Amino acid sequence: MEVTKVDDGKRSFKGRGVGLALVGLTGGTAVVLSVVAAPFVAPALRKVCLPYVPATTIQVNNVLRALRGRSGTLVDLGSGDGRIVVAAAREGRFKCTGIELNPWLVWYSRWSAWRVGVSSNTTFTTADLWRTNLTPHSNIVVFGVQEMMPDLEAKLEKELSSDGCVVACRFPFPSWTPTATLGEDIDTVWLYQRPKITVTQDNGRPAQENDCMARDTHHNT
Ligand SMILES: C[S@@+](CC[C@H](N)C(=O)[O-])C[C@H]1O[C@@H](n2cnc3c(N)ncnc32)[C@H](O)[C@@H]1O
Ligand SMILES: *[C@@H]1O[C@H](CO)[C@@H](O)[C@H](O)[C@H]1NC(C)=O
Repeated sequence: MEVTKVDDGKRSFKGRGVGLALVGLTGGTAVVLSVVAAPFVAPALRKVCLPYVPATTIQVNNVLRALRGRSGTLVDLGSGDGRIVVAAAREGRFKCTGIELNPWLVWYSRWSAWRVGVSSNTTFTTADLWRTNLTPHSNIVVFGVQEMMPDLEAKLEKELSSDGCVVACRFPFPSWTPTATLGEDIDTVWLYQRPKITVTQDNGRPAQENDCMARDTHHNT
């Protein structure tokens, strides 16, 4: 997948309004979305752009397979057109939320959930995933870019509930050890579970169980 690095200093945001309208009309392009998204992204992540690249059907199925047997709340970070959220809601075991910066994609997602009759179990929020507390969600799905995975790993270390799990699409987390890997190539998804999230040390010593289980998590359901 293509990763666009935005140099804040050199890019002009003059065309933002037009860009936004175009995104609404056409479904958007990665470049326009990156420009639109850039000003909202937290300072530490200014250089990382997360473009709109919809999951493939195989990828969506791999996510659902990874979540087999699970239930409760589910969130897709950067939910795009809502396809993962809607597919998960159709399983009937989840209360699903999509968090997405682009309001046009949020409205499209709501419509798409309504169309297949899962509106009551889906919520789409126009919000920045970096400014959203993820503690209330027991199942977290993300299809991001490689550059953001270290920061997301750090955020989830703090916010993932003790019984929580994370499904990462296309790009795995840098230090956690997955409990399952499903699919292959660009459709690969990795499943991580809280008690089993282990951190590989730099010195090559065996991976060590992290102590997040012992930590106080503010888990409100
Ligand atoms: C690679 S797409 C994945 C879309 C969807 N999850 C799927 O799998 O089909 C990433 C999405 O994240 C959104 N996004 C980018 N930065 C974001 C942020 N800081 N907060 C929330 N969403 C963001 C983009 O607009 C884009 O729609
Ligand atoms: C919504 O989810 C509940 C379980 O959380 C399920 O019983 C119900 O059938 C779901 N509704 C729809 C429309 O899928």
